[in-house]
Amino acid sequence: MTLQRSILFGALSGALSGALLATPLLAQTEIKIGYALAAAPDSHYGVAAARWQELVEERTDGRYVFRHFPSSGLGGEREVIEGVQLGTVEATIVSSGTLANFVPETGVFDIPFLFRDLGHARRVLDGPIGQDILEKFDDEGLVALAWGEQGFRHITNNRNQIGGPEDISGMRLRTMENPIHLTAFQTLGAAPTPMAWPEVIGALQQGTIDGQENPLSVIVSVNLNDVQEYLTISGHVYSPAMILISPMVWDAMSEEDQQIFREAAVEAVAAMRGFVDDVEESGLETLRERGMDVAVLSAEDRAAFQEALAPAYEQYYETYDQSLIEAIIATE
Ligand code: PAF
Repeated sequence: MTLQRSILFGALSGALSGALLATPLLAQTEIKIGYALAAAPDSHYGVAAARWQELVEERTDGRYVFRHFPSSGLGGEREVIEGVQLGTVEATIVSSGTLANFVPETGVFDIPFLFRDLGHARRVLDGPIGQDILEKFDDEGLVALAWGEQGFRHITNNRNQIGGPEDISGMRLRTMENPIHLTAFQTLGAAPTPMAWPEVIGALQQGTIDGQENPLSVIVSVNLNDVQEYLTISGHVYSPAMILISPMVWDAMSEEDQQIFREAAVEAVAAMRGFVDDVEESGLETLRERGMDVAVLSAEDRAAFQEALAPAYEQYYETYDQSLIEAIIATE
């Protein structure tokens, strides 16, 4: 290096280190967010996670950055929730599938045929009943920010079309790891197998199970039509979703940042519900076009399922306060 170049280099590096000293480095906290479905715009979880990220990053001037792990990139929902408890994962969007194993009261929303329609479910979850249950997560090492949504669940399978409870007799049906769902399908005479989501497509391909149940949002976004022939619009259960954040990251935040995360989560849920609304409109047609044999249960068929579930309802009334169930049903 010539003398001139080395003087120039020295002057430049001096100026640079002076500038670095004068400008404090931006402290950024990474939010690893895991969820079971595709990244935005291809699933309701992806859309909600992206909206949450956008709002938080914008409102905190980039002090938090999100890193997405879609399509079960961090494992099954139970594993991810445990990671959120431990602080190895900062946030997640999950179904209510395994939530009753953490806060048993959430299971009440998984009771079959409890909600009349999406509006009814949203009003209950956004009202005092839903909000009280969100607070119960604090005692389980989790911060529950908002109820999300997937839509009503329907049955898909490779064995036969379903018109009544007799048609699922002995059917090897994957359920979520959820005691309420398990009781329901056992009562209906199926052969339910609780299974973590990442194993489901492989089990359907290999034929170790005949079917599964999920809302149109999931059936469409994961192309279940590739591995399932029959779709029965049963709407047997609502089964909500939830946005959770780790207390490790939450407790380290200022109250202002907590407020930003909470408000942004509510707006992310609005985006999730918007996606669900759209797919509820278009999903059936999409799946018919993709070749599925689709049938919609009539009001009488649904009533037959409800009747067959009578012994399960007795068990639910023993587990959950009857007045709570009645208050949910009575919510206008
Ligand atoms: O069936 C399930 O386990 C859930 O609905 C899914 C697909 C993981 C989305 O949360």
